[in-house]
Amino acid sequence: MRLFSRRSIPPNYMQVFIDFNKSLKLINDKSSLINITITRIIELAAPEHVYFFMFNPDSTNYELQESTSYSTKRKLLFCGGDGLVKWLVLNERQLNISFDPEYASIYSENDKTVLKELHCKIVFQLKVMNSLKGLVLLAPKKNGKPYSGNETEIIKIILDNAALAIENIAFFEEQKESLKKMYRADKLAVIGQLAAGAAHEIRNPLTSIRSIIQYVEPEIKNPEKRKMISNAIAEVDRINEIIKGLLSFSRLSDANMEPFDLKELLHQTISLISSTAFARNINTAISFQPRQSIITADAGQLKQVFLNVVLNAVEAICEEGSIDISVKGSGEDGGTEFFIISIKDTGSGITQENIDKVFDPFYTTKAEGTGLGLSISYGIVHKHQGELEIRSLPGTGTEVIIKLPVKPNSEKIKPTPT
Ligand SMILES: Nc1ncnc2c1ncn2[C@@H]1O[C@H](COP(=O)(O)OP(=O)(O)O)[C@@H](O)[C@H]1O
Ligand SMILES: [Mg+2]
Repeated sequence: MRLFSRRSIPPNYMQVFIDFNKSLKLINDKSSLINITITRIIELAAPEHVYFFMFNPDSTNYELQESTSYSTKRKLLFCGGDGLVKWLVLNERQLNISFDPEYASIYSENDKTVLKELHCKIVFQLKVMNSLKGLVLLAPKKNGKPYSGNETEIIKIILDNAALAIENIAFFEEQKESLKKMYRADKLAVIGQLAAGAAHEIRNPLTSIRSIIQYVEPEIKNPEKRKMISNAIAEVDRINEIIKGLLSFSRLSDANMEPFDLKELLHQTISLISSTAFARNINTAISFQPRQSIITADAGQLKQVFLNVVLNAVEAICEEGSIDISVKGSGEDGGTEFFIISIKDTGSGITQENIDKVFDPFYTTKAEGTGLGLSISYGIVHKHQGELEIRSLPGTGTEVIIKLPVKPNSEKIKPTPT
């Protein structure tokens, strides 16, 4: 606070700063936080435009995330290794943009193009503990005057606070996600243990019930009663299927890891549903990009995963539609550590409210569903040190993304202690 009294900053600056800090406490999502920061910067210095470029760890670039003028759908970015970013990493103060020869050597061609296109006057860093999380660009002020020292100083303080808050939100989100995963994995493990214990006890009497029904069946002549008998058999079979599903949770540990052709397995899976797909006007397609297609995994378990996901896709498509499977490698150069398999359908989609429930065992929206397909698949993929994610838009369709290591670390696939 000494800073303010020393420099005798006009009171409205102080008010903006206080309001900003108050709002930080109430916000828990990154996009709203960036928008509030933009609003405060506009109140303070009235720039024509403000642009937030945020670091994307996947591409290692700084990509346009929010702005007062551009559609963020346009891909504007600063490359991580280029001159402007390097300068901002090394320096603590903001950079006044000038294309004078002594400054121009800082920028790469892309830096120059983007800075000129956005009429950028000044670039601020969003830094946390010396790591550059983002760039904030200001266009000239609306009144054409230069930015004053006080203005840039307050904006810098606001951005330092915003950077910290953004980092906190990211950390909070990460924690939430990993807690959710832990909870899910725990739940699956408990079900596995329960199922292993109960399945045997249930299956034996169930087999007796089925045999008894089959034994008396030929003696029943009344067509209505015969129908009841066949319904009873179908129900017994359904219970058996559920138990089989539950047992998969406990069998997750017995993965039989061997190299096989992933592309071929995907084709086999699609051929299993091809007659249903044909009858219901569903187009299926597989595109496989990586140079090699051998994966080390349990082929039987992965087949179960793909079949579960593809069957869900078929069931989500009412009349006609498509199921597209595409496989990419994780490396940009075609080299691959992970296969990233996307299975996309044009079915009914899942509401935001329900998307978190789909991995819950027994969650189903289908009259004949068991609600075990996705939870078992989740368990199998995690056992393979992979990830399974689902994205969906009601009315548009669903995409299931499965990331699997080409060669999982076999040390980690240990049998469950008995
Ligand atoms: N591709 C999809 N499109 C729409 N909804 C889906 C899709 N995949 C899964 N779901 C939803 O998730 C629920 C759980 O799926 P799952 O675990 O396979 O069980 P089940 O298919 O037996 O219902 C489904 O009942 C459905 O509501
Ligand atoms: Mg299913």
